[in-house]
Amino acid sequence: MPSLNQIRQTFLDYFAAEGHEVVSSSPLVPQNDPTLMFTNAGMVQFKNVFTGAETRPYKRATTSQKVVRAGGKHNDLDNVGYTARHHTFFEMLGNFSFGDYFKADAIEFAWKLITETYGLDKNRLMATVYVDDDEAFGLWKKIAGLPESKIARIAGSDNFWSMGDTGPCGPCTEIFYDHGDHIWGGPPGAPEEDGDRFVEIWNLVFMQFDQQEDGTRLNLPKPSIDTGMGLERVAAVLQGVHNNYDIDLFKALIGASVEATGVAAEGDALPSHRVIADHLRSTSFLIADGVTPSNLGRGYVLRRIMRRAMRHAYLLGAKEPLMHRLVPALVAEMGDHYGELKRAEATIVETLRQEEERFRTTLGRGMTLLDEATRDLKSGDVLDGRTAFKLYDTYGFPLDLTQDAVRGKGLSVDVPAYDAAMEEQKAMGKQNWAGSGEKAAAAEWFSIRDAVGASEFVGYDHLSAQGHVKVMVRDGASVEDAEAGDTVEIVFDKTPFYAESGGQAGDTGTVDFAHGKGRILDTQKQAGELYVHRVELTEGRVRVGDKAELQVDAGKRTTTRSNHSAAHLVHAALRNVLGPHVAQKGQLVDAERMRFDFSHGGPLSADEIARIEAEVNAVIRQNAEARTESMAPQAAIDAGAIALFGEKYGDEVRVLTLGQGLHGEERYSVELCGGTHVARTGDIALFKIVSEGGLGTGIRRIEALTGEAARQYLLDEANVAETLAAQFKVPVAQVEARVEALINDRKRLEKELSEAKRALAVGGGGGAAAGPEDINGVKVMARVLDGVGGKDLRPLAEDFKKQVGSGIVALVGKLDGKAAVTVAVTPDLTGRFNAAELARAAVIAMGGQGAGGKPDFAQGGAPDDTKAEAGLDAVRQALQA
Ligand code: ALA
Repeated sequence: MPSLNQIRQTFLDYFAAEGHEVVSSSPLVPQNDPTLMFTNAGMVQFKNVFTGAETRPYKRATTSQKVVRAGGKHNDLDNVGYTARHHTFFEMLGNFSFGDYFKADAIEFAWKLITETYGLDKNRLMATVYVDDDEAFGLWKKIAGLPESKIARIAGSDNFWSMGDTGPCGPCTEIFYDHGDHIWGGPPGAPEEDGDRFVEIWNLVFMQFDQQEDGTRLNLPKPSIDTGMGLERVAAVLQGVHNNYDIDLFKALIGASVEATGVAAEGDALPSHRVIADHLRSTSFLIADGVTPSNLGRGYVLRRIMRRAMRHAYLLGAKEPLMHRLVPALVAEMGDHYGELKRAEATIVETLRQEEERFRTTLGRGMTLLDEATRDLKSGDVLDGRTAFKLYDTYGFPLDLTQDAVRGKGLSVDVPAYDAAMEEQKAMGKQNWAGSGEKAAAAEWFSIRDAVGASEFVGYDHLSAQGHVKVMVRDGASVEDAEAGDTVEIVFDKTPFYAESGGQAGDTGTVDFAHGKGRILDTQKQAGELYVHRVELTEGRVRVGDKAELQVDAGKRTTTRSNHSAAHLVHAALRNVLGPHVAQKGQLVDAERMRFDFSHGGPLSADEIARIEAEVNAVIRQNAEARTESMAPQAAIDAGAIALFGEKYGDEVRVLTLGQGLHGEERYSVELCGGTHVARTGDIALFKIVSEGGLGTGIRRIEALTGEAARQYLLDEANVAETLAAQFKVPVAQVEARVEALINDRKRLEKELSEAKRALAVGGGGGAAAGPEDINGVKVMARVLDGVGGKDLRPLAEDFKKQVGSGIVALVGKLDGKAAVTVAVTPDLTGRFNAAELARAAVIAMGGQGAGGKPDFAQGGAPDDTKAEAGLDAVRQALQA
């Protein structure tokens, strides 16, 4: 019985032998396609090839493509675990013809593979064609010898495939496998087609159109072929099982989760194990392709899938976070074909562990709330939207997790009400499911590239070069000439200017044309290999074809280099100091500084930062030569080079080695990188981290300086210390002790001052010393106290109370322009006078709102301290009444 890995290999080998280029899977985050959230079919990486915007050196290709269908047009998340064939992640085997062969060959290749190479029983196979596709109908009769009864004509979207709202599309023909009459169901088109007996295994799309945003369809330049066969489905057929979750791969994954939880995969636990196995794949592959859980966009879809699995782990009774413990089983099954899984293993484990730990702090309480809310509901009832929203908002339950949770009881969620609650809070809602929102790459740049070819970049070795103007674009349109004052985008045949990529800023500099001069403000890459310079013409004019002397701003390039190389050293140091789970999440290097974003659970300690700085500076001092080699990406990765997660590299990559290991290893940092770098590590001169902080859960950012900027930074800090030392008249080394002594002095003085004020108020000289007044035979101590705030009045009132023995104390403290009132009545008089009423009278007289307290003690405040005496008079009046 062939294993899943063998079935995949057989497919690729078969098409390779038929002249197809074996192309590796593209990352799950589509590159060059902002209209899609995730790669949802094998054709995605070839979209521009189908439309003719891009050409490749081959006309036939075959892939095993990683696919995530959660979010967007093709979304299977809700069904996973409960059906035999739904997955959030699966592998799609495909063969592609870009204007080469069409219907007849596609059908013949497919038929031969499944009946001869895979050896499926012809009698169990049938096909569908688009309702009016007589040609395909005839081909199935002729090539496969299928009787007409086994070729169904299907109208509608089942046999018309589109990748999304826009993009390549066309009618298709599908191959079905009959699992046998022991399973209920009918052939496609029959009333019982929804049964599970006839299963679609392969979809052959006859790509003919390009769907436009306005709903119209353009013809593709040439009819093409795009096919997709679910590897897990065909493995089920070839391994003689009906349910995808019974194939070898899933047996291994479910086996791992059974072992980790000690709960057998049967009864109610079975769907949970299946959900966990499926979600383990999608989440691990997404993390390996650079997605991080968050509350937005792709990150939120990842979080939803993760949490859905984590709830099932909870249902299985897992006491500890489970998902991260299953990663080794996945890597063992799939890591050989998908090397990125192995490389990202530590990051996957760490990301899953952190998310599950975080979610478990609210999961139990959320489940309790949910149980209470659904206790009295019966099958068919609806859970109110507010509760679903509360679960989302307070307990971190994504809506589909709640839907999944109530499904077992036959309940659904009032989604409109949930949405309304969400709207109220202006939360993210729909945008989580939409495309990434970036601007589409301009198709024009692809055609320009096809017309003029790739730019030759000579900037690794030169800062100046002579080129010719190949293309000039002004305001989005090609132009033949431009003159002083214009700003245009220019592509030269040859350039030393680095175009922004990999987080390194584009070069700036100057250009001298035959009859003019210009400043290059920025350089960007388009259509993969066009270097587009934004040029402001300062003198004369320029025409397409003119010669150009290009000169990169050398000073800026030098510091950019230092910053970029330092970023590589930081990356290595972070992994050494914090652990191999650290993965680069982004970087920005330009002439001013470097910024490096990476995955890590919490803030770095001062000690960790110090160690990272020390390591990087130690490697700088080695002054070792920076070595760059060009090689195939896989060879580089196999040799231990760090590649970015989710990056698809070209045929040849540059591999940069910096420094020697600090513990005897031959190399300190080895990374795939197309950027420009120092010649020797010593060129960086000095490295200083200036900030470290969090960007979102699990992502940190370090900002640092190198060379002269770092020296200047340290100098500024030293200057501050020296200025302080001069002011204190002590050596710098004693400044710290001096400041500490000052702080202590200040605290002591503050305390003394407040004690002095109090003593003065109670017994010292001035008006405050005068004895109590007598109002109707009651001793009244009424005082305005300058510089005393509300909280200091209470102890003063106590002191005055002692002084009068029997009587009333009314104090108004003035501080910062405001007034505070305290009134105290000695216990023997509380039957006659109420402190709260007296305080209120004072406060109102001073323009305040009121006071609060008890008969023997009350306090209040007023916004204006100029009416302090009026406040005391109000108390006197109240006592006279
Ligand atoms: N692109 C086609 C599909 O995904 C083959 O079914």
